[in-house]
Amino acid sequence: MVQPEDGAAPTGDPKTGERTSGLFEVHHPLIQSHLAVLRDASTGPAEFRLLIQRLAVLLAYEATRDLVVDPIQVETPLAVTTGHRLGQRVGLIPILRAGLGMVDPLLHLLPAAEVWHLGLYRDEETAQPVEYYSKISDTIPVDVALILDPMLATGGSAGIALATLRNSGVKSVKLLSVIASREGITEVESNFPETQIYVCAVDDTLNEQKFIVPGLGDAGDRIFNTPGL
Ligand code: PRP
Repeated sequence: MVQPEDGAAPTGDPKTGERTSGLFEVHHPLIQSHLAVLRDASTGPAEFRLLIQRLAVLLAYEATRDLVVDPIQVETPLAVTTGHRLGQRVGLIPILRAGLGMVDPLLHLLPAAEVWHLGLYRDEETAQPVEYYSKISDTIPVDVALILDPMLATGGSAGIALATLRNSGVKSVKLLSVIASREGITEVESNFPETQIYVCAVDDTLNEQKFIVPGLGDAGDRIFNTPGL
């Protein structure tokens, strides 16, 4: 039997548990089992979408662990008790297209979240990200921003999102990716050391076309059933 390994040690305040930055590779049996089916080339688009949603929820569970809550009074049918409500505003920043696959499950968990879209595609020749859509204002009135993109390959696309958010006044920025390459993690950590990165798996290799290997192929094409686009 393979025991789950511990995730990478994050940086943060050991007393309060508050996280500051670092890589959080979330090891969990549910993540591992869903991820194996997601990677499988024979998994069709309907199941692929569902798996992305499940993994997004499990990543979000970890990424929101340190959200601040405020105490509130709740009247149950039997008594008055203390409950809690979220004390921070959360923004979701999906990177189109593949990041769209993570939005709905996150909105189920965070129904009051604001969604700010960023459209990027990678030029096939250069592997450089090209921006084609931005619904992000100069100041984003949230306390915590979650960037959503299933794949972190070279880190170029995440870099554009992170640079945009650095100027937006958001204090806490977290990147949620299903699969990351080691190279992409290093790129983000060196340029945006303040970022928390939550991933299900880190793969070792980027091939000549800058695809993550073993990876899962092109997440956008598999979500939207556009093979070979
Ligand atoms: C893929 C993926 C990421 C990006 C990662 O998007 O969904 O957004 O590439 O690569 P990077 O870390 O090297 O920037 P793609 O360009 O295929 O667009 P799509 O989501 O519309 O398919």
